[in-house]
Amino acid sequence: MSGTSLDGIDAVLARFDPAGRPTLLARAATAFPPALQAELLALNQSGPDELERAALAANSLAGLYAQVVQEVLRQAGVTPKQVSALGAHGQTVRHRPDRGFTVQLNAPALLAELTGISVIADFRSRDVAAGGQGAPLVPIFHAGIFPAPHTRVILNLGGIANITILRPNQPPIGFDTGPANVLMDMWCTRHTGRAFDQDGAWGASGQADAALLAAMLDAEPWFALPAPKSTGRDLFNRDWLERKLNAFQTGDGQTAAENDAFAQNVQATLRRLTVETVARAVQTYAADAKEVLVCGGGARNTALMADLQRTLACDVRTTDSEGIGTQDVEALAFAWLAWAHQQGIPAGNPAVTGARGMRILGAYWPA
Ligand SMILES: Nc1ncnc2c1ncn2[C@@H]1O[C@H](COP(=O)(O)OP(=O)(O)OP(=O)(O)O)[C@@H](O)[C@H]1O
Ligand SMILES: [Mg+2]
Repeated sequence: MSGTSLDGIDAVLARFDPAGRPTLLARAATAFPPALQAELLALNQSGPDELERAALAANSLAGLYAQVVQEVLRQAGVTPKQVSALGAHGQTVRHRPDRGFTVQLNAPALLAELTGISVIADFRSRDVAAGGQGAPLVPIFHAGIFPAPHTRVILNLGGIANITILRPNQPPIGFDTGPANVLMDMWCTRHTGRAFDQDGAWGASGQADAALLAAMLDAEPWFALPAPKSTGRDLFNRDWLERKLNAFQTGDGQTAAENDAFAQNVQATLRRLTVETVARAVQTYAADAKEVLVCGGGARNTALMADLQRTLACDVRTTDSEGIGTQDVEALAFAWLAWAHQQGIPAGNPAVTGARGMRILGAYWPA
């Protein structure tokens, strides 16, 4: 799995029982080398010679996927022949279900060649072809691994935040709520040179600005859309942030974009943006939730977690408390989607994505 944050790759090796319940055998992660990270980020927007650049970046990505795969195999003492398939999400560079497409850069044929393992990839496009959002695809997996004795919410804080609402004896619902880390990472990099705000400490020394937060929330119609909905860097990108900050006066004739003394306040406001949009989703769709279980890199942002706990009426804790590490949930979900593909199980979820029906997701590249 490599998600919108563009931080790197998370891999798990898992064994599934006939009911699709996973046992985690090994895990590994690797950060993107800066050059590949920069190129993947650049490919999120149109630019010169992008077909060739996309193909080359996809090959590099497959090379890195193969290295992480070798690492989990080494840890578990497992050979490629013992592995039935690799689920490889690819790197999303466009996500426009409204226009009928979603693009995950990937090189599954090369990955099969490099690893000697069959590859299942391109999980989202069939759901989009069936009129769905193609995202989030994880709620059905969450429903399987996090049994719901009462209403509970699973919150994944990746680049984008997505929630799953689980109720006893009811199918899961879920949707993207908006940015989780993507804007905070961008702003932190611009002001501190660091890829992300470790533990949220830099932003925690600023003050969230209520007027700036309101300007961000009110001026963005996407937030008010009803589910099903999904989003990505197509909307929440540098331009989006700069438009909001350029339009906001902080005094002395300066805007929020140019006032360096205001930078930590912007970061604190972006944290509030994540928390507010999640809280509104929980209030609207899951006011009866007893707890919110958080996974994804944002679970390690102490300030963000504390802010969530202050804002939400229910208990907030990480998926660690349920025996699944915060960094493993997404990768396990795509291993499960690969398993479901091989079993011929339609893992598409029309109630979540708005597709016309359940579809078998992904395509197969035999070893
Ligand atoms: N110690 C930490 N403190 C603050 N933020 C952190 C920390 N560790 C990770 N993060 C944040 O988590 C992000 C990575 O999270 P994650 O890998 O879950 O997102 P992703 O790759 O976008 O995944 P997906 O799209 O699948 O949800 C980093 O970019 C960073 O913002
Ligand atoms: Mg990641």
